[in-house]
Amino acid sequence: MIVFEDVAKRYAGGYTALAGVSFEIRHGELVVLSGHSGAGKSTLLKLIPAIERPSAGAVRINGEDVSRLPRRAIPYLRRNLGLVLQESRLLFDRSVFDNVMLPLAITGHPPGDAARRVAAALERVGLEGRGKEMPAGLSGGEQQRVAIARAIVNRPSVLLADEPTAHLDPASAAGIANLFKSFNGAGVTVLVSTHDASLFATSAPRRLTLVKGLLSEDA
Ligand SMILES: Nc1ncnc2c1ncn2[C@@H]1O[C@H](COP(=O)(O)OP(=O)(O)OP(=O)(O)O)[C@@H](O)[C@H]1O
Ligand SMILES: [Mg+2]
Repeated sequence: MIVFEDVAKRYAGGYTALAGVSFEIRHGELVVLSGHSGAGKSTLLKLIPAIERPSAGAVRINGEDVSRLPRRAIPYLRRNLGLVLQESRLLFDRSVFDNVMLPLAITGHPPGDAARRVAAALERVGLEGRGKEMPAGLSGGEQQRVAIARAIVNRPSVLLADEPTAHLDPASAAGIANLFKSFNGAGVTVLVSTHDASLFATSAPRRLTLVKGLLSEDA
């Protein structure tokens, strides 16, 4: 479903963030992407929704080379992807409910059904009944749950998350990891990056590791 073929990414200025990266993720897999700071994790994740374009090689989603997609086709690609990016922030001047509603508001979803979906997404991340609160009043782990609810409110078949447990205490991080496991159990393909090698360790999912832009796969 997600295929990288000999992908390289050089940023302007000549810095090579990824080199010769090849792997395949099948429908319904849970894959953990690890690597040191600067290894290229965020770069790899951003190539999938075409936020960044590869300098060489192909990135295929369901057989389609996203690196060749015309600009106007990108919103359709992203509709099927749930993204929790490192820099994706909540809007602090809007309620939790409105934050989660945002992707549906953008696509012009009918309001009644959108409200039901927001409530379902909040329930899914353990924040039922918290929609009227403002994000600033929530803990770091709860804010991260709101970002995850926003990513799944469109019911994507693929969920990409970039260090969703950064800055969380171990118990909250384990709770977020369990959340991703439960989405995966419901059939969602999940690719999640983390610094923390022990996270997900108990369930032993497939692990891809980046070292200075080069990929290795744990046996
Ligand atoms: N927009 C950019 N322009 C130039 N260089 C960039 C850009 N984004 C990332 N890089 C460089 O590419 C390399 C990989 O960055 P990336 O953000 O993918 O690493 P990472 O593994 O996600 O790191 P971290 O764990 O700190 O988030 C880094 O050396 C970074 O400085
Ligand atoms: Mg990163």
